[in-house]
Amino acid sequence: MNETEQLEQRIQELMALWDASKELNSHLEQDKVFDNILQQMMHVIGAGAGTLWIADTDGQHLQAVSAFGAAAEEILDVKVPRGQGVVWKVLESGQAERIEDVTRHADWNERIDQESGFMTSSLLTVPLIVKSQLLGSLQLLNKRDGEFFTEQDLRLAEALAHQSALALHNSQMYDELNRMLISMIRTLATLLDARDPYTAGHSGRVANYALWIAQKIGMAPSECEELYKAALLHDIGKIGIRDDLLQKPGRLTKEEFSAIQQHTVIGAGILANMEPRHAMERAVETAKSHHERLNGSGYPEGLQGDAIPLFARIVGVADTFDAMTTVRPYSKGFTPQESAEELLRCRGELFEAELVDAMISILEECDYDLSTYKTERRYRI
Ligand SMILES: [Fe+2]
Repeated sequence: MNETEQLEQRIQELMALWDASKELNSHLEQDKVFDNILQQMMHVIGAGAGTLWIADTDGQHLQAVSAFGAAAEEILDVKVPRGQGVVWKVLESGQAERIEDVTRHADWNERIDQESGFMTSSLLTVPLIVKSQLLGSLQLLNKRDGEFFTEQDLRLAEALAHQSALALHNSQMYDELNRMLISMIRTLATLLDARDPYTAGHSGRVANYALWIAQKIGMAPSECEELYKAALLHDIGKIGIRDDLLQKPGRLTKEEFSAIQQHTVIGAGILANMEPRHAMERAVETAKSHHERLNGSGYPEGLQGDAIPLFARIVGVADTFDAMTTVRPYSKGFTPQESAEELLRCRGELFEAELVDAMISILEECDYDLSTYKTERRYRI
């Protein structure tokens, strides 16, 4: 290779690195970040397969969280105990490793190939470390053109590993904060529901049902998560309603009912004061409008049809279903089957047909026992 060709190759490498590092920071959700890091690395280096191994929180195992290439499905979720194999060696030493023929190498852990049925020949493994925190290692397998990985490949992989580790670290912090936020919202909802023994668990159940309906109608996962949080908080305004009113057995007077209706407006007011404002918009709408009904008979504004925000329409169905099945001092509650019939009766008039149908098919799938309903794993919150 002459000097011009070498220079050209170097420029191409830098361009590839530049593209890859831009791509690496385009997502924050963990699953996407995992796949993204691995795909960029495989693309830049030219690997036939690859696996991203992430250390678990107690640092005792590395788990395959993303894999591409033959036998990828089998490799996913494989766990390697601390100290075993090349993936741990590079992580503990902080040094990347290039192996031309793995079968002749002392650190090669055959177990993974045996378990997955994959034939590894050449290997490139880089550690992912940020501020001395061991995040995981990234393994590239079998150079695409059939030859071995070169020293140049190793240099490129190391250059990209630093960017990858940073992207990974950011997404892990984002994930932790998000989990903390969801658990705080859940706690808040549980405290709220606990004021009235008859509504214990109400917000949590409504949030689950709303999430399942949203998944059924094909809502995007990030939107589903936003809906779940909004649904947990839909009745937050009940904090401003007196206990004796909320827990009053039997019929309410007109004045008492209109006082209780205020929980929608109070809730929206509470949530509208939370930061960041733009992130709370849909939760505010949901708290305010979950008692609105399609034909305009709901409250507080008597909105009709599409004027009712989608989240509120979904939570309206979930909330009504849970309210109907709840046992109260003055009513033994409907069975799930009776509640489903009631929803069907109001289909298209009070509740959107598509949302009622989604709830009904959820009920049918679990044979009317929602405690056994299983949702898809990748959507679970
Ligand atoms: Fe409500």
